[in-house]
Amino acid sequence: MKCTVISADPLRHRCRLLVVGCFTGELSPLVTELDRRLGGGVAAMRKRKEFTGAAGQTTLLQSGGRMAADSLLLVGLGERKGAVAESLRRAMGWAIRRVRATRLGGCSIVVDSDCVPLQEAAAAIACGSLLGEYSFDTYKTDAKKLLPPVGGVNLLVPPRADKGAAERGVAEAAGLCAGVRLARDLVNEPGNVATPARIAAVAEEAARELGFSCRVMAEDEIEGLGMGGLLAVSRGSAQPPRCLVLQHLPLGDATAPVALVGKGVTFDSGGISIKPGSGMERMKDDMAGAAAVIGTFVAAASLGMAVNLVGVVPLTENLPDGRAYKPGDVVTTMAGKTVEIVNTDAEGRMILCDALHHALSFKPAAIIDMATLTGACLVALGTEASAMFASDRRLAKELHLAGERSGERLWELPVWDEYGELMKSDIADMKNAGGPHGGSITAAWFLKQFVGRTPWVHLDIAGTAWEEKGVHYRPKGGTGVGVRLLVEFLKGRCQGE
Ligand code: BES
Ligand code: MN
Ligand code: ZN
Repeated sequence: MKCTVISADPLRHRCRLLVVGCFTGELSPLVTELDRRLGGGVAAMRKRKEFTGAAGQTTLLQSGGRMAADSLLLVGLGERKGAVAESLRRAMGWAIRRVRATRLGGCSIVVDSDCVPLQEAAAAIACGSLLGEYSFDTYKTDAKKLLPPVGGVNLLVPPRADKGAAERGVAEAAGLCAGVRLARDLVNEPGNVATPARIAAVAEEAARELGFSCRVMAEDEIEGLGMGGLLAVSRGSAQPPRCLVLQHLPLGDATAPVALVGKGVTFDSGGISIKPGSGMERMKDDMAGAAAVIGTFVAAASLGMAVNLVGVVPLTENLPDGRAYKPGDVVTTMAGKTVEIVNTDAEGRMILCDALHHALSFKPAAIIDMATLTGACLVALGTEASAMFASDRRLAKELHLAGERSGERLWELPVWDEYGELMKSDIADMKNAGGPHGGSITAAWFLKQFVGRTPWVHLDIAGTAWEEKGVHYRPKGGTGVGVRLLVEFLKGRCQGE
């Protein structure tokens, strides 16, 4: 979908479908004039409470020759008080679904937000549209049953407004959403397609195209490095593991990079500690952390962000087999620490500990890992926030703020040393799982043992990586969570800011 900025008066702009946002209980001068031409239909709907401007409401009106546009789609922005970029993104997500359902193939959206600066408003509108329009149809073979994609949208800015600013906003959204959409694709692809080798190939292709570097380590190299955790988990699978090292270093090697680490379990059956069958199909999304790292590199490279980045992405399946790792096994990790396996379903931390240790070799200024790590996270926070665990206050603050700005919100939980009591092993340095209490925290505590003194944040995205219902700019399936959050965070770390 292409977004184009046009300077035009919406009352004169000829198009098939004009999209206009409305705050709750308000009729803007533009909507008032459109309503006058349409004979008062909008005011009447407001009276009947059919369309009040509440967030996410939409209503479609036909022109019948009374306006320059053939039809008008009004979308609710919610209350004016407290309106932010996220309000625009969500409204445009709802609107673009309705646009897509019309099968018109495009629309013109009026950018007349006075609550958000123009560039940011244009970025939010483009972003909401690009993400709301997304759908994963690769395996639907009957084209007749599909809604065609929206080919393009025009963003209408007032003739006297700064068109360049709006264009910069749209370009920013386009680069960002390319990363989010790729992350969603990777998550939505089924486990039999998105194998470790396949994900590595997709990352390599993106790297070639966008000019960042991607090194793919195969099993022998993983073994050579001594990544015992990753090797142990991969042993039960016929698919060999991979470990990606991504680098985007526009500042050369004088500046310490930010390291990003993402859990890439392409299917998590639980292994020998096998999961119950019901709902297991969702475990194809257990590589959402990996997808977020790859998507962030795509966005950062597309946008030419002046920040050094290193990514480490361990990829494997977790399956039961005669060669699979077992409860009771002791695994030696790359860091040299030994782990007694008590549950093979706690596999994420076993591959992340090696990836985190490897990331340290790049002497990063900060490490951020993302992982669909624990069911307990979903229990604690549901689907509205990712859990954040931090070893550094400044880094936690920066990420929290990026979460508020991007709409990918974070809620912090503690990782106090005391939780380590639950992870004590009789025969090794630690166990790989604690008891039933504080499951997300003990998982984070485990990871913390592998990051030394480097400022570190762990994001548990088990609740946010997958959307069940489909809302605003978040259609059903993989959400691509993490990409917009990290890009927002990295903006603040770009040179010159
Ligand atoms: N990938 C799962 C976590 C998960 C569960 C993500 C549900 C999304 C939805 C992870 O590998 C896992 O199985 N964790 C275990 C840990 C336990 C064995 C200590 C869990 O949460 O049950
Ligand atoms: Mn598991
Ligand atoms: Zn898992």
